[in-house]
Amino acid sequence: MKIYELENLNPLTNSQLKEETGVIASSDIDLREVMNLVSSGQYNSFDEVTINENTPDETLGKFAKEHSHSDEEVRYFLSGQSIFDVRSYKDHWIRIEVEDKDFITIPANLFHRFFTPDKNVKALRLFSGKEGWVPNYREDTKDVSAV
Ligand code: LAC
Ligand code: NI
Repeated sequence: MKIYELENLNPLTNSQLKEETGVIASSDIDLREVMNLVSSGQYNSFDEVTINENTPDETLGKFAKEHSHSDEEVRYFLSGQSIFDVRSYKDHWIRIEVEDKDFITIPANLFHRFFTPDKNVKALRLFSGKEGWVPNYREDTKDVSAV
């Protein structure tokens, strides 16, 4: 996992990320630990998503557009490399490059976007509920560029 401010590429630690965004990100987490969170009832359900060359651009475009959810977004990466950009409380982008065994929790209502430059990613999505997990696209985004 690599964490840095997108504007100036200034690296951040996991705890700085948490202070500036509320995002909790950890590396080297075992699948077994993640499954324990589900069986202990911390999450209600999970599913697996695959992104590959057959994934429609429309789907990828939705991920790449700045949005938030009314529930937290919880992901465990099984393979491949992806990028999350999350908004700091000061509304700057912070980039998180994730890879296999990374576990990330984006708090409810925090704006973010997601890219998979290699189109070759498998991840688990963990849910507490279902309804809260619909994207709300940002109306006032000042953002035009993607990766
Ligand atoms: C989502 C991620 C990718 O909402 O932000 O599915
Ligand atoms: Ni999202």
